[in-house]
Amino acid sequence: MAGVFIAFEGGEGAGKSTQARRLSDTLREHGFCAVLLREPGSTELGEYLREYLVAERPVSPLAELLMFEAARAQLMAEKVIEPLEAGSIVIADRFTGSTIAYQGYGRGIDLSRIEWLNDFATGRRYPDLTVLLDVDPAIGLNRVKARQLSFGLLNVDTDRFEDADIAFHNAVRCGFRKQAVSNPTGWQTLEGNHSIEDVAAKVWELVFPMLANRSHPV
Ligand code: TYD
Repeated sequence: MAGVFIAFEGGEGAGKSTQARRLSDTLREHGFCAVLLREPGSTELGEYLREYLVAERPVSPLAELLMFEAARAQLMAEKVIEPLEAGSIVIADRFTGSTIAYQGYGRGIDLSRIEWLNDFATGRRYPDLTVLLDVDPAIGLNRVKARQLSFGLLNVDTDRFEDADIAFHNAVRCGFRKQAVSNPTGWQTLEGNHSIEDVAAKVWELVFPMLANRSHPV
């Protein structure tokens, strides 16, 4: 039986990582084999590129785009294709939708070129469901700051993306929403400004029907 591929998308502080982890825990509790991944990352090359990408280092928009796609190509080869073929449920914390939103709508790179690169890096294996956690960037960025404060991280180097101006983050949000509107079956939008429990319950309502014909958890 083919696996199920689920991605979480959204701006900074939207709660993607929390919800991706919650879903993966819930699936495992129900006896399913869930693989939790983050983008960029989850491979040696991906984590290496992530460190460079989020640091305050000079990267041109095109180089940035190609680095995200390189991380993605490695992730597909190492962590996505095989588990899906084996019937696992693969959960990605960000995927191609982030590249359209951040590098396309945020940085202004031509969308058709990004779509071509997304196709190339993924071999067109796109998520069966993409959950967009939609949050006002002003609220999301405040959450990120509050989280850093709570961890005593006031003096850490700023993240190049979190540090971008509000106009950039508003453009990114618009990019996510446009993708959701133009993919009404593959994308589902949830308001990210509700409690973790409420959002997790809504995510489960979306995912549970996708598992219905799986009589035997893998
Ligand atoms: P994120 O998982 O949000 O970082 P953190 O866990 O620290 O909150 O992702 C790192 C950054 O990478 C994030 O700001 C968005 C950016 N990004 C892109 O710009 N394009 C992409 O294709 C991806 C996958 C991420």
